[in-house]
Amino acid sequence: MEKKIGVLTSGGDSPGMNAAVRAVTRTAIYKGFKVIGIRRGYNGLLNRDMVELKVRDVSDIIQRGGTAIFTARCPEFKEWANVEKAAQICREENMAGVVVIGGDGSFRGAADLSKAGIPCVGLPGTIDNDIQCSEYTIGYDTAMNTVVELIDKLRDTCHSHDRCAVVEVMGRHAGHIALNTGIACGATAVLVPEVKWDIKEVIDKILEVRGSGKKQFIIVVAEGVGNTIDIAKQIEDATGIESRATILGHVQRGGSPTVRDRVVASEMGYYAVELLEKGIGNRVVGMKDGKVYDVDIQEALSMKKPFNDRLYTICNEINF
Ligand code: ADP
Ligand code: F6P
Repeated sequence: MEKKIGVLTSGGDSPGMNAAVRAVTRTAIYKGFKVIGIRRGYNGLLNRDMVELKVRDVSDIIQRGGTAIFTARCPEFKEWANVEKAAQICREENMAGVVVIGGDGSFRGAADLSKAGIPCVGLPGTIDNDIQCSEYTIGYDTAMNTVVELIDKLRDTCHSHDRCAVVEVMGRHAGHIALNTGIACGATAVLVPEVKWDIKEVIDKILEVRGSGKKQFIIVVAEGVGNTIDIAKQIEDATGIESRATILGHVQRGGSPTVRDRVVASEMGYYAVELLEKGIGNRVVGMKDGKVYDVDIQEALSMKKPFNDRLYTICNEINF
């Protein structure tokens, strides 16, 4: 019987997941495997909601956001009995391995499935760039470009009204999107969960730069920080500058992936199939010093990702 490789996307979607699915599919077919697209994350395995992906089935998706094989959360997969059931289904389907595209939670599922005898390789797919073992995650660049485009639009209207825009960006518990977009948009202040902040310091900075003639302000707030509407109100009350809170929300998760996301997704997808071809599982593919590499899943999950303190300092020192 022909050997197969499964591919699934799990957890929150991110632009570039399609490019990864396409790369996995095309690489595996090139190497002589059949490819099975498992729909809606681990749910698809448990419910046998799977479809063969042929070469032309992944045409015309590299440029699309979202994920053509759908994604979902599957809490039942945390139960060992369900992991064993999924492993049995993989064996019945003659799967040599599964590529799991998602975040840390999805990698825990991939580690469990590997333990149950099905080699799995994780690819980092999330806009948050919060995966410890990888400098870069698929979707991060597209999301940041979306944020910058939207903040540039807010800046236009802030300029007309001499206002302060307090903009909440995604990132779950991480401030990478906030810091980088804050730099790119010249935000007067960037609030992130990784660095202690004080509303009084933000207000003092706004007043200080207003003294130098600045009349419109951008404050970027990472979602993990707290209540953005409250922050805008406190700024308005203390400075008298009209302040408007904008929560960018899920618009940050959509859109056509950038070149960087398409290329990284293609490179990582290719690498994942190379591992499975050699029978190697329980690995996460990541990026280290700008190069694609692989690491044991448990080790990947125990790593710490440093916050870019220098960039944070630069942001504070050049944006006034
Ligand atoms: P992400 O992969 O983006 O971190 P989640 O944390 O929501 O997203 O996890 C996605 C899915 O991965 C979960 O719905 C579940 O199917 C699976 N998963 C998460 N944690 C575990 C775990 N500890 N063991 C097995 N599977 C898990
Ligand atoms: O992990 C991606 C992400 O968009 C986070 O930035 C955000 O906190 C979360 O997912 C939102 O999840 P949901 O789509 O379930 O609302």
